[in-house]
Amino acid sequence: MADAKKLFIKTYGCQMNVYDSERMAEAMGAEGYVTTDSVEDADMVLLNTCHIREKASEKLYSDLGRLKPLKQGKPDLKIGVAGCVAQAEGAEIQRRMPMVDIVVGPQAYHRLPAMARASGPSVDTDFPAEDKFDHLPQRKANRGPTAFLTVQEGCDKFCAFCVVPYTRGAEVSRTPARLLAEARDLVARGVREITLLGQNVNAWHGEGGWGLGRLIREMVAVPGLDRIRYTTSHPGDMADDLISAHAEVPQLMPYLHLPVQSGSDRILKAMNRKHTADHYLRLIQRIRAARPDILLTSDFIVGFPGETDADFQATLDLVRAVGFGMAYSFKYSARPGTPAAERPPVADDLADARLQELQALITAQQRAAQEAMVGREVSVLYEKAGRLPGQMVGKSQHLMAVHVDDAQGRIGDLVRVRVSASASNSLAAVRIPD
Ligand code: 5AD
Ligand code: SF4
Repeated sequence: MADAKKLFIKTYGCQMNVYDSERMAEAMGAEGYVTTDSVEDADMVLLNTCHIREKASEKLYSDLGRLKPLKQGKPDLKIGVAGCVAQAEGAEIQRRMPMVDIVVGPQAYHRLPAMARASGPSVDTDFPAEDKFDHLPQRKANRGPTAFLTVQEGCDKFCAFCVVPYTRGAEVSRTPARLLAEARDLVARGVREITLLGQNVNAWHGEGGWGLGRLIREMVAVPGLDRIRYTTSHPGDMADDLISAHAEVPQLMPYLHLPVQSGSDRILKAMNRKHTADHYLRLIQRIRAARPDILLTSDFIVGFPGETDADFQATLDLVRAVGFGMAYSFKYSARPGTPAAERPPVADDLADARLQELQALITAQQRAAQEAMVGREVSVLYEKAGRLPGQMVGKSQHLMAVHVDDAQGRIGDLVRVRVSASASNSLAAVRIPD
């Protein structure tokens, strides 16, 4: 038998790309490809790209530049570009970089195997009617204890800064029957924790008026599914049933990523976010009433066009009022085709200074949230062995990384531990005997 062909995948950007990369790797597995960590060994290189900010987008072209000598020395090497840059720029990528053989947008991944078999260059950025995931074969092999599961794609919110509604298209929900079948299959392959993914995951809906809260309740009935999470949510779509699921479903982890972007009503309006700072704070109150130990995380954009010092102070005030466990903050990046890109930008050095100030506050809150865990009992799902002998690493219910001295521990064990110390990005803990 000939040696298997080797596929190298690099994934940029969000967790939905991580899930898509796994599914593409499985589909290419059916074509005789095995994945490799070494780009030099690869017969096919697939770059699964992100378009959310200019920097993420530009990485594609610098990586392609670095691949040039490899392709020159190995003309049979196939180079594919997938993801949101592929969707946004399409054939333009091949014009700029003729070495690229395949350009495939996020809704056309089921066509990747055929594109890889074809000899000439090909581009597919359609939004076909069929669900690509139904046409992407899955392996039955065992896998690690945590998995992503995309339940919803696309976004209808049209925040003024964001390319997602254009690159991923309109909101589409996968059906409950398919999602429950996929969850059962994942659990049969060793998964104990599933993170439901969607660009706007809490807008997911199924037939008969099902919302995400109902889907979560049905999914945790799958025996062996011990933990469930979901991301990313919009504050406008936190339905009562989803909030009450946080109170009533023990397998639903006390963690919520709820991007707010800004604390200034003026800026929120200009961003077309359709909520005010006060709406957000009241929503947080209701969520905390349902699940008092919930850890909240968020996304922020600083330097949005028109942002004044007073607007930025309102963002800092909101951060202080909520107390986040962690948050991502970004400097506004004007994206072609979005309404905000038409507006005059904030001076770069001012945006930089605001970003630093916000990040310092967020870092302090993250430290405080971790410190507050010291001495407490938490549950940890082991994901891998630690760097030290006899050490295991996993995530707590609050998604904090925890290092545990546990010579008997195995990947996939769900254990009780007592937190002994907090380091910059993780906790140390001691196993509590069963
Ligand atoms: N500039 C900076 N940050 C952005 N985000 C989305 N679009 C932009 C942009 N044009 C951020 C938002 C979003 C996260 C995924 O990326 O905070 O929640
Ligand atoms: Fe982009 Fe999220 Fe706004 Fe949708 S809700 S447009 S994905 S920032």
